[in-house]
Amino acid sequence: MKKSRWGILGAAGIARKQLIPSLHASETCELVAVASRDAEKAATYAKENNIPVSYGSYEELLADPTIDIIYNPLPNHLHVEWTRKAVEAGKHVLCEKPLSLSVSDVEELIALRDSSKKLIGEAYAMFHQPRLQSLKHQLDTEKYGKLESAHGVFYAKNQDPTNIRNAYDYTMGGGALWDIGVYPVTVGRWMFGEEPTEVSCVMDFDEKLNVDHHTTGILKFPSGGQMSFATGMRHPFHTHMTLYTQSHRFEVANTFHSDVKNQMIFEVFDGQKPPVAKTYSFEPVDQYARECDNFAKAAFSGEPFAGSLEQTLASTKVLLALFKAAKSNRFEVV
Ligand SMILES: NC(=O)c1ccc[n+]([C@@H]2O[C@H](COP(=O)([O-])OP(=O)(O)OC[C@H]3O[C@@H](n4cnc5c(N)ncnc54)[C@H](OP(=O)(O)O)[C@@H]3O)[C@@H](O)[C@H]2O)c1
Repeated sequence: MKKSRWGILGAAGIARKQLIPSLHASETCELVAVASRDAEKAATYAKENNIPVSYGSYEELLADPTIDIIYNPLPNHLHVEWTRKAVEAGKHVLCEKPLSLSVSDVEELIALRDSSKKLIGEAYAMFHQPRLQSLKHQLDTEKYGKLESAHGVFYAKNQDPTNIRNAYDYTMGGGALWDIGVYPVTVGRWMFGEEPTEVSCVMDFDEKLNVDHHTTGILKFPSGGQMSFATGMRHPFHTHMTLYTQSHRFEVANTFHSDVKNQMIFEVFDGQKPPVAKTYSFEPVDQYARECDNFAKAAFSGEPFAGSLEQTLASTKVLLALFKAAKSNRFEVV
């Protein structure tokens, strides 16, 4: 089978760290080109990362007829604009999270996807992680009972004022909730298999930067399920989720990552004293490589992709309701 040919918009840190090694290792994808707003920066980045072609503008990359798929890891406020331009140039687009900061933008992208027949997907690598897929399966079978409660955290210290998470205010996608709070919220919604109807939220805003640096939220689901999450940029790195049915507790350490040997487990505890654990173990995987392979496969076969625009639409509604609730100090309808 012909390999899909990929181009990257911007000399982004996440691409260097995750997607580029994954694309190089993939048997179905080929990384062909990168574009930067600065031709010299593009050339240096291409050389350092073993990318054959570099372009000194994003427009030149989109005009390259040999590229099938664009990976868009630009700052959050540029996701929609450059995803739209790439689709209009005839490319499929895998765009970083959060793909959109507004509901109307996602709706427009859905219409564009449907009229152009080009796939647009949101890059949540954890959707492609076998451990979380297995956890979802266990919850769906209700072997351990029905999911009633979930609690997630994602903290990552970041006080660099020049970093995009601080340099752009929350209306442009800066701050903790858009950057990392999205992970426990998204996994919680995935595990419940339904969308929350109401949310509440507390946020500590950095007044000067106008971004949330510490945020705690609550989601109420139609089935009666409850979820809380906490996220922040001024505490040491930590990710974890705990989920409860009436009879069992599930612990998922390092929830949103998948590459650390001996840590790819989830544990199930019954209500006994001391609690009895069953451990589900998984091999470490490159969830970013699986994401790229799955995206390319979906783009060419029409198969569903886990990071669909429908999931983005629901997610954007929840995140915007959380910001609204933080301002109103009460529960807000999603
Ligand atoms: N999925 C994940 O695990 C994961 C992890 C980290 C980040 N992310 C997401 O990936 C995206 C990029 O994050 P990052 O940490 O890689 O950011 P970054 O290193 O700052 O890269 C962003 C790139 O965007 C380009 N850019 C274009 N216009 C810009 C502007 N006005 N200001 C700043 N940069 C601009 C720059 O490339 P040129 O100068 O070369 O044009 C820059 O290198 C974000 O959406 C973030 O949420 C995802």
